Amino acid sequence: MKIICPICKSELIKKQKSYICFNKHNFDMSKSGYLNLTINKSNTGDNKEMVNSRTLFLETDSYLPLKDRLNKIINSYNKSSLLDLACGDGYYTKSFNIKNKFGIDLSKEAITYASKKDKSTFYLISSIFDLPFLDDSFDIVTTIFAPISKDEIYRVLNKNGLFILVTPGKNHLFNLKKIIYDKPYLNKEDKINIKNLTLIKTEKLEYSFKLNNNDSIKDLFTMTPYYYKTSKKDASKLDNINNLTINASFIISIYQKK
Ligand SMILES: C[S@@+](CC[C@H](N)C(=O)[O-])C[C@H]1O[C@@H](n2cnc3c(N)ncnc32)[C@H](O)[C@@H]1O
Repeated sequence: MKIICPICKSELIKKQKSYICFNKHNFDMSKSGYLNLTINKSNTGDNKEMVNSRTLFLETDSYLPLKDRLNKIINSYNKSSLLDLACGDGYYTKSFNIKNKFGIDLSKEAITYASKKDKSTFYLISSIFDLPFLDDSFDIVTTIFAPISKDEIYRVLNKNGLFILVTPGKNHLFNLKKIIYDKPYLNKEDKINIKNLTLIKTEKLEYSFKLNNNDSIKDLFTMTPYYYKTSKKDASKLDNINNLTINASFIISIYQKK
């Protein structure tokens, strides 16, 4: 898989522990093996607190059914290259049984964690809106609970390549929201259109899981976008909750580039 320079877009060639392009732009590998290709350092992705909470929550394996379902789907296509966009700490990326795997995220904390735990994937710090790959590079691109960089997804997918998108279903985390908000809302399940990609299949995965301690309930809340949108007063409603049954609802949409 050819990696390209974020500055001049020429190919980056590996020389010992660095990647260097024809125009001598130089990017060093980190000790844990990831490559930092950010040029605009003010874009940072999720902060340490969010990453820690997500990692601790995912370690409870409350989202294991989603990980298993994604693996089942991916294995059914028999493909050999995959790019996980906004991969976070690599919880899903690590599990994918694919020969050439790349994970990209803007969060240094997330990518540091991912690259230490998972040696089967090449992790990069980069924006998903300016991908450091040539056109037509990947058989599969995934986006799980993250912004959708539609143009770049189309550009880096091979002909007939698949884009797998996970978005929250209507009832996702509704009973957590019911505790925090006076008027909780259901998520919208609008169909997402992506130019030049055909939606070939949609699957819904719904189940409930139990969290038996306050830390895990707070971790789940902190890793969601609600954390930043909620007043301290509303957030404190979780302070004394130690047991909660939560509904998970995921929509998995599979698109194909023609
Ligand atoms: C909700 S998390 C999901 C992480 C992972 N896919 C998962 O489900 O565990 C969203 C991720 O998107 C990353 N992110 C947000 N904007 C980004 C961008 N422009 N480029 C790369 N990553 C981005 C954040 O740093 C964060 O790790």
